Amino acid sequence: MLKKILGKAVTTLAGRDDFAIPKHDSPLFAGLDWEKLPKHVAVIMDGNGRWAKGQGLMRTAGHKAGVKTLKNILKTASGLELDALTVYAFSTENWKRPEVEVDFLMNLFSEYLNKELQEMHENNVQIHFIGRLDGLSDSLQKQMREAVELTKNNTGVKFNIAANYGGQDELVRAMQKIAARVQAGELAPADINEALVEENLDTYGNLPVDLVIRTSGDMRLSNFLLWQAAYAEFYFTDVNWPEFSPECFVDALRDFASRDRRFGGLNEDKK
Ligand code: FPP
Repeated sequence: MLKKILGKAVTTLAGRDDFAIPKHDSPLFAGLDWEKLPKHVAVIMDGNGRWAKGQGLMRTAGHKAGVKTLKNILKTASGLELDALTVYAFSTENWKRPEVEVDFLMNLFSEYLNKELQEMHENNVQIHFIGRLDGLSDSLQKQMREAVELTKNNTGVKFNIAANYGGQDELVRAMQKIAARVQAGELAPADINEALVEENLDTYGNLPVDLVIRTSGDMRLSNFLLWQAAYAEFYFTDVNWPEFSPECFVDALRDFASRDRRFGGLNEDKK
């Protein structure tokens, strides 16, 4: 039994430091239907705290382990040539956590940008941030702007990090921007349509979300990408984020490939 557990620990790619962007013919992608991949995947990286508790560690150790997972999932997304990967790093509601945990997370984001930016740039990743960024520290905002500027001409996966993000807050901000234009006489209320709302969202320029993955067993959206996920498929797994490996990610994509997406219509064979 012990051998079995250890065997699993050494064969999984979760949190591995030496994980490189997998090539198309990597065994990791065996049996994957490349025609049916999602273009935009969004991830609720949940369960860092529960994982840490299970290991007898502090919650913060779970967040640190979560960074390793994130690095490997981003590389997998690059290998799959996904158009966009959007991750929920910090919600507008996460300020309710103890101050030490909030401070730890803010430092972790800063450290992540310091240490990983160059490699992400070399990997052709285009970095964006979504959320109410002016609620973050000036130094973190500066790092974020620099990351966006450095990677803006990259043509690989769009990597959107949601920080101080809430879907309701994003919609309120979009409505405020539109209302100001109506008040200025630039627009009539009848000019407001879906395209205009989208133009005013933080994610403008991204394709709609095809797949939302949530780790760690809870089955809710938690104020993430409320507009963008209108027709997304959902994939829930009990695996905690620090143990969510590239194999787990590819499993989610295999599951996605089996879904019957109708977008409110009927499939050809049912017409
Ligand atoms: C949810 O787990 C996770 C978070 C609120 C933070 C997510 C942050 C990371 C994965 C760190 C890496 C991110 C970046 C962008 C560097 P939880 O703490 O709510 O877990 P629990 O539900 O088990 O308590």
